[in-house]
Amino acid sequence: MLKPSSISAANLHRRRQMNAVNPENHPAKLGPRIFADTADIAEIRPLFEAGIINGVTTNPTLLKKAGADSWGSSLSILQEILALLDPYPVSLELTELTEAGMLQQATELASLGQNSVIKVPVGGYQAVNKDYDPFTGLKVLRVLWQQNIQTNATLIFNTTQAFWAANAGATYVSPFLGRLADYCYQNDLPEKTPGNALYMVEDHKNSRDDQHVFNTEYVASGGATKDAGVRLIHEIVTVFANYDIQTEVLAASVRNSVQLSEVLLAGADILTVPAKVLMQVADHPLSSAGMKTFFEDSKAFTS
Ligand code: G3P
Repeated sequence: MLKPSSISAANLHRRRQMNAVNPENHPAKLGPRIFADTADIAEIRPLFEAGIINGVTTNPTLLKKAGADSWGSSLSILQEILALLDPYPVSLELTELTEAGMLQQATELASLGQNSVIKVPVGGYQAVNKDYDPFTGLKVLRVLWQQNIQTNATLIFNTTQAFWAANAGATYVSPFLGRLADYCYQNDLPEKTPGNALYMVEDHKNSRDDQHVFNTEYVASGGATKDAGVRLIHEIVTVFANYDIQTEVLAASVRNSVQLSEVLLAGADILTVPAKVLMQVADHPLSSAGMKTFFEDSKAFTS
């Protein structure tokens, strides 16, 4: 697990300039915001009503899971979430892949609610079609910033992507810590310690891969570790704090409560969390055991 960060003073300074959700006299005024990572209104409503979340992130996979089977039905689902969450932010992902198409779609999605945040994939365009412009996402982010439209740069797997998205004007960046950690687990070869060969600097001198995860702190320190996802959050927060960048670091693709604790130590500004993980945040096996005992013992003096 990461040790508490030494950049907390710089990050605190940076966070003091950001919008706080809690009021001035609230003990967690400068605490991170928590969003639900789902497009299912039945999951979102109880979490919102309980004050657990103050934002939502969606993506095409989550919309498909929530039952969207046409552009019209996906818009209806998004509209319902936007109306429930208003004025808190809801990220809606672009599905077009050209700059003109994305900007047109962004205008449509932004008009759905004043709390719309347009989610823009930062890269990967040439994985869909090799003729696409690799800078499409960065160009779209810049234009939307000029238009004063809030954006969330998504599919971020290294600090460089995060910095360039911020430089293009992104309101939020979404590093996918769980997917990166999963990737490391799946590819960590015990015979190649430390970490795995994909992350070794030498390999990257001779090859290009699709992950673009080289040239980071964990490579410099000897290779990937099993908490590579959390280290990614730590790096991005450090860089943003060093340069007082106001783009918010939205830790995405969270798998469990251990990752949640680690991301909090890393200093993320926002955590977007699947509903099933959020439903468990107040629970712990020892809390359950303690409650049972306290309840039994309270019978001695309550009727
Ligand atoms: O917000 C990004 C997130 O939805 C991706 O999560 O669980 O598909 O890796 P996951």
